[in-house]
Amino acid sequence: MLLDVKKIAIAYQGQPMVEDVSFDLEAGEVLAIVGESGSGKTSVIRAILGCLSGTGKVNQGEILFAGRNLANLSNKEWLSLRGKDIAMIFQDSGNMLNPVQTIGRQFVEYLQLHSSLKKGEAQKKASSLLSRMNLPDPQRVMESYPFELSGGMRQRVGIAMALAFAPKLLLADEPTSALDVTTQAQIVEELMQVVQEAGAAMIIVTHNIGVAAHMADKIMVMSGGRVVEYGATAEVIDHPQAEYTRSLLAAVPEIGGHRYVG
Ligand SMILES: Nc1ncnc2c1ncn2[C@@H]1O[C@H](COP(=O)(O)OP(=O)(O)O)[C@@H](O)[C@H]1O
Ligand SMILES: [Mg+2]
Repeated sequence: MLLDVKKIAIAYQGQPMVEDVSFDLEAGEVLAIVGESGSGKTSVIRAILGCLSGTGKVNQGEILFAGRNLANLSNKEWLSLRGKDIAMIFQDSGNMLNPVQTIGRQFVEYLQLHSSLKKGEAQKKASSLLSRMNLPDPQRVMESYPFELSGGMRQRVGIAMALAFAPKLLLADEPTSALDVTTQAQIVEELMQVVQEAGAAMIIVTHNIGVAAHMADKIMVMSGGRVVEYGATAEVIDHPQAEYTRSLLAAVPEIGGHRYVG
């Protein structure tokens, strides 16, 4: 088992916000976390990466990654895990990129920070990662500043960077919600393809249970800091147990007997 999250609770300033969350993930599996704003989705995936915001703390339960309890890692072990074994794609990669440096410069610096690649090798690697993400003129992208790219292109750069070290687990927090609907659908497809090619497992947080049904092997539905539904995608979609899941599903159009978008 790649990831085993066991009954975790998360508190901010000592106030419990997320309680009794358990799920697991095999290598190569995709889990979607769905739920309304404030239900605790971001907290759960940030807890896995050991980077809860503000005063956030995991104060109950445990998170095992490839059998190792993440609570016991040293700073050095975290550094080698983050960005390599576990990588994150943010809602808006524009916020992660440095506005006053070209994409190429920051991508190359990022690659060199986490590896012993020479500059020329890093440039080649960056360029090939960008072309894998359907960025047709990688050289031009490398020479651009973030503001010169569309939101969709910046998001593709963010995904390319996240995939740089062939992570075993990719965490994607609403990776398309800042984009227009057409670009969302394209990026969802591209993301599925590159994740499959890389053989990585992924946890994708999405508002849209249709996207979850389309992408994921398993779905976990959260509401008010708790898990209200968790199971194989087909089970959750065809036989939802929680009223809340049924209300989410009712909002998705049915196409050919299946609920999905794409
Ligand atoms: N840095 C923080 N400080 C205090 N409370 C926070 C912080 N981050 C999140 N929370 C609280 O935790 C709860 C879950 O938030 P979050 O995990 O961001 O949910 P979601 O991603 O589903 O919108 C919310 O009630 C939110 O107010
Ligand atoms: Mg969130």
